[in-house]
Amino acid sequence: MSHRRFHHPDPNATFVFTKETESQIAWWEKKYPLERRNSAVIPALWVVQKQNGGWLSEAALRAVGDRLGMAYIRVYEIATFYTMFNLEPVGKYHFQVCGTTPCMLRGADKLKSFCERKIGPKGQVSRSGTFSWVEVECLGACVNAPMIQINDYYYEDISIETLEQLIEDFAAGKEPKPGTYAKRQTSAPEGPATSLTDPALFDGSRAEPLKTIPGAPQPAAPEETKA
Ligand code: FES
Repeated sequence: MSHRRFHHPDPNATFVFTKETESQIAWWEKKYPLERRNSAVIPALWVVQKQNGGWLSEAALRAVGDRLGMAYIRVYEIATFYTMFNLEPVGKYHFQVCGTTPCMLRGADKLKSFCERKIGPKGQVSRSGTFSWVEVECLGACVNAPMIQINDYYYEDISIETLEQLIEDFAAGKEPKPGTYAKRQTSAPEGPATSLTDPALFDGSRAEPLKTIPGAPQPAAPEETKA
């Protein structure tokens, strides 16, 4: 795990929730008994991060602690543990490049080098303020490796060419579609289906419905009764 520090903490800085942020925190808070309202800390940090342009200042963390009646250290522990919380400013489009083994074996190192060349050093916002990138651990989409999370969405089966196109599209103000960039449906194998291909299986037109599951154990035959 990387060492994560606050961005220039200022003990006198303050943070004010917008009306929308406050109402979202209140919504999450109501899910828990009053004495357990600090259970809403993770979603509260998430909505505050959204309000603050994608990162959490130390003042914002203190505001969440005050709002939920928590010691500041408890909020700091959570915010510094989960990499979904950014403790430094990020670009408008924040790339989280997965570098764990399956993605690494499928080319994540090349993606990281490309980000370094196109966007700039890891963890820094590009000069235009549009991009930033970091390396993260497994994001749970290994079957579609290599993958990158960009803001709230996963972009999967990414090649250098795809990554270049994504950066160009975001820079031009387009919103490229998330999901896989290979010729496959979500996480299914590439290419056409090789089993269960009979349409009659799915359209209800199968003349002889299956009476038993193939290979399932058969019920024992009833014993003959003697006269
Ligand atoms: S290793 Fe990259 S998503 Fe799991």
